[in-house]
Amino acid sequence: MILNSENNGFFFSKKKYFIESNGTVTKKSHSNIALIKYWGKHTKEIQIPLNSSISYSLEQVYTVTRLIYYMKKKKSKNFSLKIFLSGEKKNIFLQKIRNFFHRIAYYCSYLQDYNFIIETHNTFPHSCGIASSASSISALSLCIMEIEKKLGSFLTKEFFFKKASFLSRLGSGSACRSIYSGLVVWGYHKYIKGSSNLYSIRYPYQVHPIFTKMLDTILIVDEKPKKILSSKGHQLMNRHPYAKERFKYANQNMNRMISILKTGDLPEFGKLVEYESLTLHAMMMTSNPYYLCMKPNTLSVIHTLWDFRIESKKNIYFSLDAGANVHLLYPIQEKTSISKWINSDLLSYCKQIITSFCIY
Ligand code: PMV
Repeated sequence: MILNSENNGFFFSKKKYFIESNGTVTKKSHSNIALIKYWGKHTKEIQIPLNSSISYSLEQVYTVTRLIYYMKKKKSKNFSLKIFLSGEKKNIFLQKIRNFFHRIAYYCSYLQDYNFIIETHNTFPHSCGIASSASSISALSLCIMEIEKKLGSFLTKEFFFKKASFLSRLGSGSACRSIYSGLVVWGYHKYIKGSSNLYSIRYPYQVHPIFTKMLDTILIVDEKPKKILSSKGHQLMNRHPYAKERFKYANQNMNRMISILKTGDLPEFGKLVEYESLTLHAMMMTSNPYYLCMKPNTLSVIHTLWDFRIESKKNIYFSLDAGANVHLLYPIQEKTSISKWINSDLLSYCKQIITSFCIY
């Protein structure tokens, strides 16, 4: 049978490997902020998005993961895992990571030969609306691919990252975009060559210079872990009254984004990014059951930003993930005046601020 990349079989690992009794691999992966959002997935297939999405990877917002593996006394289908976050043992992540390992074991048969210790460190708080699962799952997937390489698989660089993205997707959809730096697309879109539902690709088209030097200041208005997990939110899209229209518009918004990225129309970019963010939250608010991720300070930041934009005529726009925190996107040239404004007008609304370069 000829396996092509649109076929999951393309990612099977070969059966025979060198035997290595133990080892350690370390990988770093960045978080990302979506410009066109992924919200909703197919019910019959695993982690297949219902619309394509595009994101910037964030330079200063990342996870470093060390994966220690040692041979099991007896091969078994169970995974023995220990997880440490910043040196602290974290059993709350065990189930999620164990499920992830079970899901990918089909494609990485060698995983069943080992026990694992996962030591991970984030440059930001987890589960607070910054995509911590994106950077942590993608860092872990890169570690797993490094093991695959060490065990003797000949992997081209292209395949290494493609499969890392494929595996990441099975852990957390948005994580598959974190495998690459820069602007990254996940999900098939008829106008984006090479786009796939199975893994992400680097955005393949010309980008205006203005979008190659953008900053993202993340205002952490709420550090607490999310009450409703994204997996639940995606599930609620399955019988959502506005889902069909959302997927249609998300596709059209991607068309608009392709043209904006080419022409460098920053105000249109901002309008679209804000519209996508509010649409994402509108979907949550109109799910059944409905819920709300924004906090009073989220709205205070947005209104203060809108007033500032009218007065200053600066190109600064917000984006939201599935949480209360606000991402402010602006070109690097505006850095000095915008940091001044953030310090004087926004500091009181947030617990912490992280400024990152949007990698291009
Ligand atoms: O990757 P998940 O399953 O955690 O979904 C998160 C999706 C959003 O972050 C809300 C949007 C996106 O495209 O990143």
